[in-house]
Amino acid sequence: MADLLSLVGVNKVYGQKVKTHVLKDINLAFKKQEFSAIIGQSGSGKSTLLNILGTLDRPSSGTVYSNERNLSSLSDDELAVFRNRMMGFIFQFHYLLPEFSALENVLIPHWLGQGNPPPDILKLAKQLLDRVGVSERMNNKSTDLSGGQQQRVAIARALINRPGVILADEPTGNLDSDSAEQVNQLMREINEEFGTTFIIVTHDRHIAARCDRVVEIKDGAIVQDYLTAEREERENWEELAPRYCNLRKGEVEWVNKR
Ligand SMILES: Nc1ncnc2c1ncn2[C@@H]1O[C@H](COP(=O)(O)OP(=O)(O)OP(=O)(O)O)[C@@H](O)[C@H]1O
Ligand SMILES: [Mg+2]
Repeated sequence: MADLLSLVGVNKVYGQKVKTHVLKDINLAFKKQEFSAIIGQSGSGKSTLLNILGTLDRPSSGTVYSNERNLSSLSDDELAVFRNRMMGFIFQFHYLLPEFSALENVLIPHWLGQGNPPPDILKLAKQLLDRVGVSERMNNKSTDLSGGQQQRVAIARALINRPGVILADEPTGNLDSDSAEQVNQLMREINEEFGTTFIIVTHDRHIAARCDRVVEIKDGAIVQDYLTAEREERENWEELAPRYCNLRKGEVEWVNKR
């Protein structure tokens, strides 16, 4: 099966005069229905990586593929259409539009891509709000909702175009622990019900530990990439590590020491 989304030899360098090499030769692939975490310290390049996976930003070199299609050759307009159909986004701050109701916010990605929603899309939006537990407040302005409710509306919004993949950048970073737990649980249920691939950037090791796969980035390079279940089962983790680790030269020692 072709990878849903993959990066081959991706580098990202910011700046003209002073160059910051933020992503270093990243090779990474995600399959359909995978539920993965990307972890790493602040400034390690997680958001940059997610933005490139989500085609919100382009790599300085290297290639982004989706189902074997080379996305680097698409124009910005073509990419916008691709992204609108294929991807949903959840950010730490929900970015709901304050002057619109919860229901209208959920419909926005459809409006942007395909104009006025027909009855079946309106029905889907209501079903999604019901699914995330906010249907009773669908006609309230988004500013009238709690932080946890707003983030759940943002999840419904990310799902309205039935994307193959949802990219989430610290989706629970701004929530109290109960709301974070609910949002996390909800993402997992959606992953199982709809087969949606999730790639979740998180600081929270507890959340990461409950993902199927964990990719760790350090100083712009992938230092670990493992399946959580296999790691838990194996006492001799070090033997397994090289199989999943996409290591840059010299970092094998560092990983094996951990
Ligand atoms: N537009 C930009 N121009 C210049 N440097 C940038 C830009 N965006 C990010 N960087 C730098 O790239 C590095 C990685 O940033 P990134 O936002 O990807 O980190 P992160 O892992 O998401 O961190 P955090 O956990 O704090 O969100 C940082 O050193 C940052 O300062
Ligand atoms: Mg970030």
